[in-house]
Amino acid sequence: MSQIIKKGNLPKTPHTEYYAIPGVLALEEIHGSLGFGGPYTRKLHIRKYPTIQSKKPEKAKFDFKLKPLSDNILQPFHIYTGKIPFEGDCITSRKPILYGKDTIVSVSKPSQSSKENIFFKNGEKHELFYIQDGEGLLKTEYGNLAIKKGLYIVVPKGTIYQIELISKNAFILIVESTYPIGFAPHYLNAAGQATLMAPIVETEIEIPEFQEPIDKEGEYIINVKHSEGNVSTLTLDHHPFDIVGWEGAFYPFGFDIENQHPLAREIHTAPPVRQTFQSGVAPHNGFSICSFTAQIEGWHEKDIPAPYAHSNVDSDEVMFFSNSNYGAREGYIQEGSITLHPGSLAHSPHGDAALKSTKDRGKLNDHLAVMLDTFFESLNVTEEGFKYADKEYPLSWYKSNAK
Ligand SMILES: [Fe+2]
Repeated sequence: MSQIIKKGNLPKTPHTEYYAIPGVLALEEIHGSLGFGGPYTRKLHIRKYPTIQSKKPEKAKFDFKLKPLSDNILQPFHIYTGKIPFEGDCITSRKPILYGKDTIVSVSKPSQSSKENIFFKNGEKHELFYIQDGEGLLKTEYGNLAIKKGLYIVVPKGTIYQIELISKNAFILIVESTYPIGFAPHYLNAAGQATLMAPIVETEIEIPEFQEPIDKEGEYIINVKHSEGNVSTLTLDHHPFDIVGWEGAFYPFGFDIENQHPLAREIHTAPPVRQTFQSGVAPHNGFSICSFTAQIEGWHEKDIPAPYAHSNVDSDEVMFFSNSNYGAREGYIQEGSITLHPGSLAHSPHGDAALKSTKDRGKLNDHLAVMLDTFFESLNVTEEGFKYADKEYPLSWYKSNAK
């Protein structure tokens, strides 16, 4: 994230004395990326370092170790995440569905808020949430972000947070990456502004609302995900949200999917024109995230709005259907469906979707979907994800062709 933000109070010169409480030296922490060379934020703790653990660390009661399918057979997958039950809080309800060496796609459908003194920190991956449904508050040491339907939230690796639900349940798509996640760098000029040709505007982000530091002693649990899905429980003797002020370019932020301002072309456009975020160094590693929002279909007098069959050989393609209005998969997908089309296989619209789409030429569609394309990374389906799979999906083109 290139926008530099300052909240609360800090000394004008970094790493110099500051006293929020007379006589008590505030303590500086750098939350940074890419070996002191990437985006970072300077945080000032009111009186204690975040390193003061009051109990020995222990193994948490849960983990996120990934369990692959026993048979690795090349096939397209369709997973009905709408059928996953609501249970637990935003952390314990997290179910990994797809994973590769650097990327994990999970679904969390919590029905409870985080307990007041229990927090989570993803110490091995950066996170991107997409809120399919629900309302609440993401509480972090940087401040609070309102959770609402259609919002993406980027949470840098190492951020301490908890989620308070306002709605009865929530439905969250979570993408984790080894690499930082931000707007596609080719959208940004040297000053960090989105260019005037980009489909996003960097100032439309939602920034955490700063909260006064909580200067409180007690027993505060932080469950930290680390080293390939292990979770360890740390206990601090003081509240982790004890920040007097922070400044920097590394913090959680929100971005409403409706703030993706689509670009149209006279003939069908390939997905990269819908790109919102990127992780890693494209096209060598990481992934791109595209937002399919309402867009004018091609208006050429002979345009075919449905996509072509494609073998995008260096990418595995994941689609999360936020609504089911997607002509190329009409009759197959449901709200919350996830499809995985591996790069080793071609995929195409179903049945006569190409012909039917010609009636939509030049019209505004009503798509709402999130797409993730990996770069040189194969994804696998977990055992848990496969429980909700449409087992007939590999034959669905054959069946739709016979109709
Ligand atoms: Fe595709």
